[in-house]
Amino acid sequence: MNFSIRPSTIALKISAKYALFGFFWILLSDRLLNFLVRDPALNQQIQTYKGWLYVLITAAIIYILVDRYDRNVQKSQNAYRRLLDNIADPIYLADSTGRIIDINEAAAERLGYSRKEILKFAISDIAPDTNEIEWRKTIARTASDQRLIFESRHRRKDGTTYPVEVVTCIFEENGQKFCLGVARDITQRTRTLELMVQHEKMNSLGGMAAGIAHEINNPLAVIMGATQNMRNRILSDSPKNLHIAQECDLDLDKMREYLRKRDIANMLAKISEAGGRASQIVSSMLNFSHNGPRKMQTCNIAKLMDESLELTSSDLRFRNSSRFTQIQISKEYDNAVLPVRCIRSEIQQVLMNLIRNASEAMAEKEYTAGEGPRLDLRIKNSRGGVVLEVENNGPGIPRNRLKKVFEPFYTSKEVGKGTGLGLSISYFIITEQHKGSMTVSSTDGKGAKFTIRLPEDSCECCDV
Ligand SMILES: Nc1ncnc2c1ncn2[C@@H]1O[C@H](COP(=O)(O)OP(=O)(O)OP(=O)(O)O)[C@@H](O)[C@H]1O
Ligand SMILES: [Mg+2]
Repeated sequence: MNFSIRPSTIALKISAKYALFGFFWILLSDRLLNFLVRDPALNQQIQTYKGWLYVLITAAIIYILVDRYDRNVQKSQNAYRRLLDNIADPIYLADSTGRIIDINEAAAERLGYSRKEILKFAISDIAPDTNEIEWRKTIARTASDQRLIFESRHRRKDGTTYPVEVVTCIFEENGQKFCLGVARDITQRTRTLELMVQHEKMNSLGGMAAGIAHEINNPLAVIMGATQNMRNRILSDSPKNLHIAQECDLDLDKMREYLRKRDIANMLAKISEAGGRASQIVSSMLNFSHNGPRKMQTCNIAKLMDESLELTSSDLRFRNSSRFTQIQISKEYDNAVLPVRCIRSEIQQVLMNLIRNASEAMAEKEYTAGEGPRLDLRIKNSRGGVVLEVENNGPGIPRNRLKKVFEPFYTSKEVGKGTGLGLSISYFIITEQHKGSMTVSSTDGKGAKFTIRLPEDSCECCDV
């Protein structure tokens, strides 16, 4: 289809040139012949051939004119196609019934079909939210040359869909309405918006969590203190205990035997232990959500790793999302891990993301009998710094995806489950903020290992 050269103009030009030639032929040919050939018999004979000559010459002229215009049309069609194919956004041209009559390369590429396949489709085949009736109504409602902007979804050949912002323009050609649509892929924009909302939510949640953690600290201290006191007052033979027991005429040994038989001493020990764990989580939460300035400080990386594990495990246990309790965790820390200067909350964020990724990956794997999910956390001193490893025996990362995992927005998780930002932010934190390095290695089907190298003193090279 060509919209740049109007066929009626071509026909007019060819007819005009043909008429002009005919006019001069009639006007001049007899005069020229009479002037050149004086012999009447020969003149008569040539007159007969002149008719044939006229037909031959006009046929040649018409051929040349049509061929020239044909080439022009071809050139203009090539320019139109080049123009369309060089536009990065998918473009569709459809008729009033919704049948697709033209597309550009970007459209074919984005949808995963060949051009030939798409030209057999109607708009409803690629836009699942549109049907033919609605399409006709939209076309009928829209006046010529009016522009419409709306959001929709397009479906790829593999069945997945992606959000698009469509700008359509309706125009008439030879009494028929056509719709030209540019369908921009807005996956990135939609994700960014979702992320902003999520970020806002996390921000307020972070504040709330810090507030709650703070509030929980006091009653927790009361519970822990009271439990400790109860244990001391029941189980120890302090002079005061003995004195008051005597005052009450109470046999302490018998009472202790009763408490032991009823498992009460054990219960008190469990309350102490659970309280201790709760206060550890609360203090990790307070550390993490602490919104202080981004400050370099000397950190005990082993402690930071433990805290990150603690926080991630309580988060995952709470969500029950990745069967965290079934994971066998092993820690191999060098005896005296070098202190590292780093921004505490950021390194914690990186470690939490790695541990969460590992446990989410392992939850996806079906383990054979005798094998189970396993998470290895290692910290080693190395020349001039510390090496941290987070390794799991999950499904691993296929070779062709290894490079992609650090790209922003790359995720293999379902929509709404992963943003694909965790590793890219972690990479940024390690390489840019701490001038360290972060790498991944994996054997497909057997697991993945993330390795972080932090310089001993990242302070000098880091702009804080
Ligand atoms: N330990 C791992 N084992 C297998 N695949 C992994 C592992 N860690 C990351 N990946 C892959 O890398 C992708 C990107 O990870 P990243 O942390 O950047 O985003 P995400 O986990 O998908 O989303 P979010 O971090 O927002 O929850 C994951 O979707 C997953 O496919
Ligand atoms: Mg992640």
